[in-house]
This record gives sequence, structure tokens and C-alpha cells, in this order.
Amino acid sequence: MTFELQHTDPYSSARAGIITTDHGQIKTPIFMPVGTCGSVKGVHFSELREQVKAQIILGNTYHLYLRPGLDTLRKAGGLHKFNTWDRPILTDSGGFQVFSLTGIRKLREEGCEFRSHIDGSKHIFTPENVMDTERIIGADIMMALDECPPGESDYQYAKNSLGLTQRWLDRCIKRFNETEPLYGHRQTLFPIVQGCKYKDLRQDAAKHVVDRLGMLNDGGGASIGGLAVGEPTEVMYEMIEVVNEILPKDRPRYLMGVGTPQNILEAIERGVDMFDCVMPTRNGRNAMLFTYQGTMNLRNKKWEQDFSPIDPDGCDIDRLHTKAYLHHLFKAQELLALQIASIHNLAFYLRLVTDARQHIEQGDFTQWKRSVINDLGRRI
Ligand code: GUN
Repeated sequence: MTFELQHTDPYSSARAGIITTDHGQIKTPIFMPVGTCGSVKGVHFSELREQVKAQIILGNTYHLYLRPGLDTLRKAGGLHKFNTWDRPILTDSGGFQVFSLTGIRKLREEGCEFRSHIDGSKHIFTPENVMDTERIIGADIMMALDECPPGESDYQYAKNSLGLTQRWLDRCIKRFNETEPLYGHRQTLFPIVQGCKYKDLRQDAAKHVVDRLGMLNDGGGASIGGLAVGEPTEVMYEMIEVVNEILPKDRPRYLMGVGTPQNILEAIERGVDMFDCVMPTRNGRNAMLFTYQGTMNLRNKKWEQDFSPIDPDGCDIDRLHTKAYLHHLFKAQELLALQIASIHNLAFYLRLVTDARQHIEQGDFTQWKRSVINDLGRRI
């Protein structure tokens, strides 16, 4: 993987760049649809390509390890072959999902013990077996195993947790460098910066990551984790600033699990290049649509006889169907409602980051951001 920084906004830290992987290029800033179990919920790969214009999608080590399991993935020839998505894939390491999904888990120096949310069976993730698992999945961009502590963690907990994440990172890097990709395409590793809401811990975490990036066999970038977990939004923005002051300019920066369209623009302004979030698909399945004019709830009676396009500036499907039709599909509990809403929201998120990139290239990103950000938060 390589990263070329192409433009830096003169009035902020916003950047436009290009990531090159063996499965193609990614223009940054970018939003990555979440495909937890090897599929983006409700959206076929042809729609991801043609409607959403996704350049890279996510997979989750935790889910894929449990189901379909490593034997099937290896025999399929990796996730790209299995699901036919031939553009880049990024995998999260499983640490975060273990914490958020299983409830029952035991953290030790060795790794993280947990019970499957599917059948209750007992497992352990270690830095070594997570690297091996991400090799088997075959993601172009692999995440290191980390602990994402709760947002309200006290200083001592956050400090100890960061120490564990840092020791796990060193073990991840060792294993990563000792092993080879299995399917002929290159893979790269992103360490994760933790440290909760504590500035000095974030600085320490970022410096540790900078140091370790130099040890990686292939490229590498930096992820920023442990945010949007209950802390005030202003704290999240401050932590992004603190970390990005230290992270190298010539490597991509990925803010994990964030967020609303406003969050994404604020983070782009502070120098973040990559994003993922379940919000466009999860909220879409709940009838909430994102637009530049604000969010709308398609279950609302107000749309019952609104025969205007879902979004006149959106993707083909947005222009093909009316708000009234989508309202009807939600009321009738038709599966197509979930599909159309998910496609619309993902296409909107991709349009948002593509527009951001264009304004960074033009040199008027901050002015554009100021002109759109308030409406994005409105309810219509
Ligand atoms: N997804 C959202 N936040 C995080 C995090 O802190 N760590 C990992 N591994 N994944 C995340």
C-alpha cells in the first residue's frame, strides 16, 4: 500500500490523497461502507459499485472468524473471492466487537477471551492469531488488536489499557512481519491510537504509533480508535487534533466508527482521511435518510403523497423513486424499503466525502463546509 498526499487545504488541516492497493486506488477523504459479515446489509455488490460508488468496504474479523470460519474462508481463497468484491477491503481486528457484542470477556496479557454471541462457545483473540486471521480473510488493510476502553474510563484504567494495546501492537507487528499474504496481493497493517479523553495518553499513543510505523514491512497508516464512545463531541474533536499533530503527514489516518455527516466534515477539517460507520445503513433501515438539507424520517405522514424524487441530486435509485413510494414501502414493511434507504444513505455519504475532496482540491473546503454543516443537522 502507498499513500500519496495530493492537496492540503491552505486554511485547515484537510487533505486530499490517494491510497494505492493491489485491489485498486482509493481517493481520500473516503467513507467505507461497513460489511461486517462479508456483505453490506441490504446492498448488493453491483449497487455498491454502481449506485453507492464505494471504493473500499469493511469486514469484521470477529464475525468472519466465527462465521463462516477460517477453514471456509481459506478454501474460498479469501474474502474477495468469496464475496466477489474485487476492490479494497479493510478488516477491523475484532477487539472492539468483542467488547461491544459479547459482554462476557476476560482481558489478559496473552489476549482477550470471549464467548461467541452466536452459540456461546469460548474463544481467545491474541495479537498473533488475529494477524493470522486477517491474513486468511485477505484484507488489503488489516487492523492491529487493541482494547477500546469505555468512554467514561478513569485515567488509571485508560493508562493501563493503553499499555496493553501498545504491547499487543508490538506483538502484532512481529507476527505481521514474520508472515506473508496468502493470496498474492499485498496487505498492510494499521496500528490503532487509543488513550480515551486524556491528552497526554493520546500524545503518548500517537508517538508510539509513529515509532512503530517505521518497523512495518509494508506501508501502513494510523487508526484513531476509542472515540464516539460516549464522550462529548468537542472532546472527540480535540483528541483528533492532538493526535493528528503527531501522526506523520505522509500516512493515511483512519477515524474508526465515526459518525454523522457533521462529524465527518469536522474530522476532515482536522486532517482525517478515512471513515466507517454503521449509521448510514442502520439508520436507513430505521427509515432515516441523510441529505444536504437535513435528515428525514420516511415513516412520517408528511411524505405520504410527496411524489418528488427521494433525492433529486442523488444516485439513480434516488432519482427513480419518489418519497411517497419509499414511505409506502416502510409502512408496508417491504424489504425493498430497507434496501433503497441503505443505498441512498451510503450514496449520500460517498457524495459528501467526494464533494469534500473536490473542495479541498479547489482550495475552498472551509468555506464550503461552513455553508453546508448547519443544514446537515436539521430535521426535515
Ligand atoms: N471501531 C470503532 N472504534 C474502534 C476502536 O477503538 N477499536 C477498534 N478495533 N475498532 C473500532
